[in-house]
Amino acid sequence: MRKKIVAGNWKMNTTVAEGVELAKAVVAKSAEVPADVTLIVGTPFTHLCPVAEALKGSKVELSAENCADKEKGAYTGEVSAAMVASTGASWTILGHSERRQYYGETDEKLVEKTKLALANGLGVIFCVGENLDEREAGKHFDVVTDQTKAVLYNFTAEDMAKVVIAYEPVWAIGTGKTATAEQAEEIHACIRKVVADKFGAQVAEDMTILYGGSCKPSNAKEIFAQPDIDGGLIGGAALKAEDFIAIAMSY
Ligand code: 13P
Repeated sequence: MRKKIVAGNWKMNTTVAEGVELAKAVVAKSAEVPADVTLIVGTPFTHLCPVAEALKGSKVELSAENCADKEKGAYTGEVSAAMVASTGASWTILGHSERRQYYGETDEKLVEKTKLALANGLGVIFCVGENLDEREAGKHFDVVTDQTKAVLYNFTAEDMAKVVIAYEPVWAIGTGKTATAEQAEEIHACIRKVVADKFGAQVAEDMTILYGGSCKPSNAKEIFAQPDIDGGLIGGAALKAEDFIAIAMSY
């Protein structure tokens, strides 16, 4: 069965105290969200332990925003998948365009990160998406196809049960510009076909594919109504519990 998911990506926002407050506010409102919608909050590494505590006993799940491409050892400043799992988090976001763009995240590194996340029992929210030049050149289908194949084709159909894909057009992230529901749907359908080509129709049918990019309470309903869109990865609007919950209630 395909899961509906609304996940927040807090990015590099909030202090620990502010993050705990935000998590508590999300928990307080989470009972309003239909039971078949999984809620996830993705927080900075520093917030994982206290936010895990704040989420205890609630339906809200916890994600990191990244993990290291190495298991352990002399990698100053890195945080391993095992460390993330030990905080109580059950997910990590990987391959976000901001990490690809600013921190040199390559497909090769993402294969290693995905391997380690899965080996440590974490679910992976794997991000793909074209930038504005690529969209204007008509390359958007090719870009998301290549990004998906380059990483996920190294894994098995069983692994895919722990993977969620997020389509985030870079030109729509934090810009207030959203892909139209039609633009998002055609890319989601393309991604689902790429999954089907390697892992079979059933795995593709069961794969949750999220939309991200200026998703907000006012546009979530139309986006989530598309047949191949199974929820959202929410940036700015996830920093307000009210908006995040309103988006989750848009199903
Ligand atoms: P915004 O919702 O702020 O556009 O960010 C989307 C995103 O990058 C989520 O990962």
